[in-house]
Amino acid sequence: MIKKVLITPDGSKLYWSKGDLHTNYGVVKENDIKNGLVKSHSGKEFLVYDAQFVDRLNKIKRGPAVISNKDVGIILTNTGINPKSKILEAGAGSGRLTAFLANISSNVTSYERKEEFYKIAETNLKELGLKAKLRLKDIYEGITEKNLDVIILDLPEPWQVLNYAVKALKCGGFLVAYLPHMTQVIEFTKALSSPFVLDKVEEVLEREWILEDRKARPENQMLGHTAFLVFVRKI
Ligand SMILES: C[S@@+](CC[C@H](N)C(=O)[O-])C[C@H]1O[C@@H](n2cnc3c(N)ncnc32)[C@H](O)[C@@H]1O
Repeated sequence: MIKKVLITPDGSKLYWSKGDLHTNYGVVKENDIKNGLVKSHSGKEFLVYDAQFVDRLNKIKRGPAVISNKDVGIILTNTGINPKSKILEAGAGSGRLTAFLANISSNVTSYERKEEFYKIAETNLKELGLKAKLRLKDIYEGITEKNLDVIILDLPEPWQVLNYAVKALKCGGFLVAYLPHMTQVIEFTKALSSPFVLDKVEEVLEREWILEDRKARPENQMLGHTAFLVFVRKI
C-alpha cells in the first residue's frame, strides 16, 4: 500500500510504499522518508506527506475506462449515499467507483461479468484497504440483493436491468445510469415505466484554473465529455 507522497523539485508527485526511492533527482533513502522536507543523496529537496485515499486512488491499476471525480461527485450528492446505504453497482470495471462507494459505506456489492476486470477491481480494492462484495456476475441475468437504497449502472444497456431493479430497490430508492451516448439515454428513459420515475438527466462540466504568479486564467484544455447521468427514482 502507498504510504507517502513526495513532491519533487519540479512539482510532480511520486508515490512511496517501501524501500529506497530512486528518482531523477537522486536516491531518497527509506529511513529518510518522513513527513516534511527530505533530501536525496544529491541534495535535492522533496516535500513529504502521508498518502490518503485520493492519493492511492491515483495509482490504481486501470482496466476499462474509469469514472471521473466530477461524475462520482454528482452521484454521491444526488443520491445522498452515506455509511448506512445499501448499494449495488455494475460493472465494477477497474473498481474506481466501487472504491469511492466502499470508502463511505460498508454495504457495497459490485457485479462484473469479465474475470479479467473482476481481478483488477479486486486487486485495486485490496491495495486501497477497502472492502466491497465483488461478484463475478452478469447483471443482465438478475439481481440477488434486496432492499437496496441505490443501484448504479456503468454498462452499455441499463434498460436490461429494469425488471430486476424494480424488485431489488427500496421504495424511494435511486437507479443511476452512467451513459456516454445520448442515444443510450433515450433508449433507457423510453424503457422506464411505473414504478420508475425519471428524476433528471445531467452532464457535469469541470474547468480547472491556472494560478501561477500573474497567470490567473482557466486551463486551455478541459476534460471534454465523459457521460450523461440519468437519475431515476422507484416510487
Ligand atoms: C466502463 S467499465 C466501469 C468502470 C467503473 N465504473 C470504474 O469506475 O472503474 C464497464 C464495466 O462493465 C462491465 N459490464 C458490462 N456489462 C455488464 C453486465 N451485464 N454485468 C456486469 N458487468 C458488466 C464491463 O465488463 C466493464 O468492466
